[in-house]
Amino acid sequence: MIALVTGGNRGIGREVCHRLAALGHTVLLTARSPDAAETAAKELGGDIVPLRLDVTSEEDITGTAATVTERYGRLDVLVNNAAITYDTWQRGASADLDVVREAAETNLYGPWRLIQELLPLLRESAHPRIVNVSSEAASLTNMGGGTPAYSTTKVALNALTRMLAAELRGDGVLVNAICPGWVATDMGGPGGRPISEGAAGIVWAATLPDDGPTGGFFRDGRPLPW
Ligand SMILES: NC(=O)c1ccc[n+]([C@@H]2O[C@H](COP(=O)([O-])OP(=O)(O)OC[C@H]3O[C@@H](n4cnc5c(N)ncnc54)[C@H](OP(=O)(O)O)[C@@H]3O)[C@@H](O)[C@H]2O)c1
Repeated sequence: MIALVTGGNRGIGREVCHRLAALGHTVLLTARSPDAAETAAKELGGDIVPLRLDVTSEEDITGTAATVTERYGRLDVLVNNAAITYDTWQRGASADLDVVREAAETNLYGPWRLIQELLPLLRESAHPRIVNVSSEAASLTNMGGGTPAYSTTKVALNALTRMLAAELRGDGVLVNAICPGWVATDMGGPGGRPISEGAAGIVWAATLPDDGPTGGFFRDGRPLPW
């Protein structure tokens, strides 16, 4: 299996790379810093290939698609993990919309563009999976105030997840949104659960059987309310 993970140099993405490699996948560990990608790949060992990919760069995305086409001719798993701006300091009523727009570039348009570019390669796979790493902060059912940039961009990512799941069902592409829970990373801060626990639900969605769910929102393999 060939898997590509965005934001693979640290946090949850790094652990997802580690786990997929341990399952025998060839893992394209991508990061916006090529040095960070290389260091993480070296530290993790296994069949992990470092690649530079800033998800806000169209050029990087088309370059990545070209590299994967040339080297492998297909892609089995895409994990859209990279994200920014857990804006606990903002409220929707007074949010800086430039901050919201910037967050959308990474949290929504990046994954969207990447999926579009990699879709021909995913269609070459016998078991294609797309995992969009989301958050319960995007649950409309449980929506409260605060974190406006983060929450609205993840809500949009969830909408994209459902839309693509419907559009790609006939092609056998399973597309799901996964909340890793509150995890002790740079983004989550101290107090959250261990990174291994957050990564497990993402790996579950990346390795679903052909009759597994699509168009769902899950944490730890269990449905969350949209
Ligand atoms: N931690 C939590 O409690 C929690 C809860 C719910 C959901 N999540 C979600 O889980 C995912 C991973 O979060 P995390 O906690 O591991 O976050 P993190 O520790 O802050 O790591 C974020 C990763 O995204 C990368 N990134 C940011 N902008 C990028 C860009 N333009 N192009 C490529 N990579 C980029 C970062 O790379 P650099 O090193 O270059 O900055 C880093 O590798 C995110 O989607 C997040 O929203 C986390």
